[in-house]
Amino acid sequence: MSRLATLDRLRTSIPVIAPSMLKCDFGNLHRELELLDAAQASVLHWDVMDGHFVPNLSYGPMVIERCRLRTKAIFDAHLMISDPEKYLNEYFKAGCDCITFHIEAVPNPVSLLRKIREQDVVAGLALNPGTPVERIAPFLAECDMVLVMSVEPGFGGQKFIPAALEKLKTLRMMTPPDLLLSVDGGIGPTTIADCAQAGAGLFVVGSAVFDKPDYSAAVAELAKLGSP
Ligand code: DX5
Ligand code: ZN
Repeated sequence: MSRLATLDRLRTSIPVIAPSMLKCDFGNLHRELELLDAAQASVLHWDVMDGHFVPNLSYGPMVIERCRLRTKAIFDAHLMISDPEKYLNEYFKAGCDCITFHIEAVPNPVSLLRKIREQDVVAGLALNPGTPVERIAPFLAECDMVLVMSVEPGFGGQKFIPAALEKLKTLRMMTPPDLLLSVDGGIGPTTIADCAQAGAGLFVVGSAVFDKPDYSAAVAELAKLGSP
């Protein structure tokens, strides 16, 4: 899918609930993809960790590429890696529709954001809880999406950090409405509405989907609570 078509699909389906595959059952990935399709999760969020930028290791492009063949969902890659430039091509080849990397890993992200857009892929920049919004302000025109981390990256199942709400509000005021704001970490029934009100449109959800017996019910409830 082209970058503009992906953006159009995302913008017209706000609130977007994007299950974080970090929390899925890797022993039964095929079944998980089927259940997520049945739950009408139109975006899957792939947390890539290198054990260096974050103190955890997850999966890489080989896993994403094989899963790409099994679903039509939009693939949103979140690269928590120290050298995204080195591996970027592999994520293009794996069929990612959106690629987000961290400002803390690449202090001058312009050329990388442009490279992503040149490949007709949605370009995103992420910021950690300790990173002020001002750090990414000069680069917002180069971004299709900004991801605000509401936990320290590395692990699912952590508690939402409320300071993310102020960041979302500030970003919402600084950016045109078509720039997609995404929030990641500790999102669930008790936090999603505040994030929506603060301006987020895409909600990355790990535990609040995968820890539930019924993914369809979980996704539907979150979409209802996250409606603007
Ligand atoms: C954390 C990841 C998140 C995480 C979300 O580093 O970026 O996507 O898996 O999981 P929950 O929703 O459980 O916080
Ligand atoms: Zn993530």
